Amino acid sequence: MRAPFTPARPTEREQVQMSAADNARHTSQPTGSGTPPGGEVPSRRARPRVTVVGTGYLGLTHAVCMADMGHEVLAIDVDETKIAKAVTGEAPFFEPGLEPLLRKNLDNGKLRFTRSFAEVGAFGDVHFVCVGTPSDAEGRADLSYVFTAVAALAPHLASECLIVGKSTVPVGTARQVMAAVRAKAPAGDRVDVAWNPEFLREGFAVRDSLAPDRLVFGVASEYAADLLRRVYAAPIAAGTPALVMDLETAEIVKVAANAFLATKISFINVMAELCEATGADVIRLAEALGYDERIGRRFLSPGLGFGGGCLPKDIRALCATASGLGVGSLATLLRTVDVINMDRRRRVAALAREAVGGDLAGKRVAVLGVAFKPDSDDIRDSPGLDVSGRLAREGAAVSVHDPVAMPNARISRPDLRYADSVSEAATGADLVLHLTEWSDYQAIDPAALAKVVSRPVVIDARCALDARLWRHAGWTVHILGRP
Ligand code: UGA
Repeated sequence: MRAPFTPARPTEREQVQMSAADNARHTSQPTGSGTPPGGEVPSRRARPRVTVVGTGYLGLTHAVCMADMGHEVLAIDVDETKIAKAVTGEAPFFEPGLEPLLRKNLDNGKLRFTRSFAEVGAFGDVHFVCVGTPSDAEGRADLSYVFTAVAALAPHLASECLIVGKSTVPVGTARQVMAAVRAKAPAGDRVDVAWNPEFLREGFAVRDSLAPDRLVFGVASEYAADLLRRVYAAPIAAGTPALVMDLETAEIVKVAANAFLATKISFINVMAELCEATGADVIRLAEALGYDERIGRRFLSPGLGFGGGCLPKDIRALCATASGLGVGSLATLLRTVDVINMDRRRRVAALAREAVGGDLAGKRVAVLGVAFKPDSDDIRDSPGLDVSGRLAREGAAVSVHDPVAMPNARISRPDLRYADSVSEAATGADLVLHLTEWSDYQAIDPAALAKVVSRPVVIDARCALDARLWRHAGWTVHILGRP
């Protein structure tokens, strides 16, 4: 298991000295096979040439948006099928607005794809590493993709360049990457490493990439900061603040941001439990809290809790890092946030059991929504799919509908039934569960739906349906945290 932290973190003074040494390295004129004819220094080009390693969710979006900012971009993936799809202008996942931009930048030649690391090494001034960092069995970030990608790229780095990590990693990784790459690259110490975490949200990935609310540059030299400022010249000119900091702080910013968001969600969810115990209304509570600018209303929506490929994985990885470093208080906080979050799923399953009279065996349950959140086809750690699985395990016949996530859900949970429409899913149902708050579901006519179910009982686990309307149409409505 790779240690999540390099204990020898430099002092502030050492960092200044190190930066000075790094700057000296990078101001020297590079020589060797990577220098183009005419002696132009690659990374001193007005527009640095960009490569993107990994064309998954983050990498493909980043490559497309970099090209759209005007850069020449070469993207690489070891997965042939991903590249084969991308070159035809097709994104292998659902993300509003991405495909038109992908096609535009393929057509104008700004964006190209390859499977050759030699080509990537020869082409790029700035190499973004956008590979996945999934959880290992203990919840720690598995860094094998990061180090494999860097090991494949390093032998092809013959001249001065910058590797920029975008993957979410435990603190200390950037320095390990720097040591690994410098040991293998022909350009040696003239290869620098920076960390530039991304904060994009699925469903808003294009907007978040083209106009981020902040840019974080974790650097070890002014050379790296300058290059990153040039790469992100467009959003910076449009007013996006660029925060330059040391590598370790930049690594922590990303996981701390996700940990804070997760904590906020679990906080409102325990408040929902308090509301349920007292007959209070958690939505009015969230509204009233949200007017305080120090608190804010966003990420204070109660319900089934958080899922997806980021928040759950990142809080577990940060918890493991904190435990490893002896920061027990942080580990305890994050463990509690995780436990509260997982309890929401158990709570909804228990409510479903109660709603059908105590035994789910043989009951027909319609599930509306299994994407981990609306406007996404992602079902990774999906709370809705988890609840569906729990009910199926207790013997319920679960019929699932989702506007876009069904193909992915089918692969992951072939044991569930899948319906082409809300009405088909609900036909003959003893219970309807609203588990992902797609706007389509808020537009359902509850009177029409009441005609097809066996019993008009709905659990709104996302607190998003108009309860008055549904009750008026004859439904028994259970909402988490609301009377
Ligand atoms: C999250 C962060 O919001 C991004 O800033 C970050 O860049 C990204 O992870 C990442 O690390 O790559 P994302 O996973 O797309 O983005 O999803 P969110 O919009 O954060 O939602 C996460 C989960 O929280 C969803 O299951 C959603 O339903 C739930 N949620 C969100 C709530 O239960 N209540 C809320 O008030 C908000």
